[in-house]
Amino acid sequence: MPSIIRPRLGVNVDHVATIRQARGTQYPEPVAAAALAELAGADQITIHLREDRRHIVDRDVYVLRQTVGTRLNLEMAATEEMLHIAIDVQPDMVTLVPEKREEQTTEGGLDVIANRERLAEYLEKLEESGAYTSLFIDPDPEQISASAELGVHIVELHTGDYCEAATPFSNMNGDYEYDRDVELQRLRRSARVAESLGLTVAAGHGLDYKNVLDVAAIPQFEEFNIGHSIVARAVLVGFERAVQEMIQALEAGRRAAIGTL
Ligand code: PXP
Repeated sequence: MPSIIRPRLGVNVDHVATIRQARGTQYPEPVAAAALAELAGADQITIHLREDRRHIVDRDVYVLRQTVGTRLNLEMAATEEMLHIAIDVQPDMVTLVPEKREEQTTEGGLDVIANRERLAEYLEKLEESGAYTSLFIDPDPEQISASAELGVHIVELHTGDYCEAATPFSNMNGDYEYDRDVELQRLRRSARVAESLGLTVAAGHGLDYKNVLDVAAIPQFEEFNIGHSIVARAVLVGFERAVQEMIQALEAGRRAAIGTL
């Protein structure tokens, strides 16, 4: 079991670029946000270069490669265009994610089982370029086993279902498909499976300052990639404080778990 005090925090700065693109201005600058995140203690900067360039654009990826002093994690779809950019930019880490043009944000994990051969081809080329590789998948033991068979270093488990699930307080109108405890249990089980297969386990999507606590308490999660809630808080309290408060939440979640072991 990893003996870390707190999991690593990857700060996703996509939504700083979303604000910039909304007006076609040069600001706010995601590169500045990334620098502030690092000063506040972030362990990694995460960006998603989407096919439609709706937030992060190519220039951001190249400039961040020059400025990020921690670790640059490039999320991208498995396409020829993105592979070409990744090989050119050489991020420290590449996370392959599914991408649909019309979705608001990444909606589900990769189907590794159905796309095994194509993903194997991309992973091989990315590893040749020197990048750590990660696959963003649902917390499903079969997808995790298929990922391990492909020799990937990291699996990032999609926490969206957990984050959207009903809690005892939110289920008043009964229109939620999932239950929070069931989803948390699924994350726990999946994280154990991933660890037992020798994978580094990360989590991401939809996490905020409250719902992250129970996930941070799961000792197998070594890394969290969090964007929207941090950028949303940064608008009100400033970027460094927003990042520091998320680091504190990760620490609090992990400490609570150690206290109950
Ligand atoms: N991890 C992955 C793979 C993602 O696609 C996203 C969303 O871009 C995130 C983490 C961050 O999600 P959120 O913005 O909801 O924190």
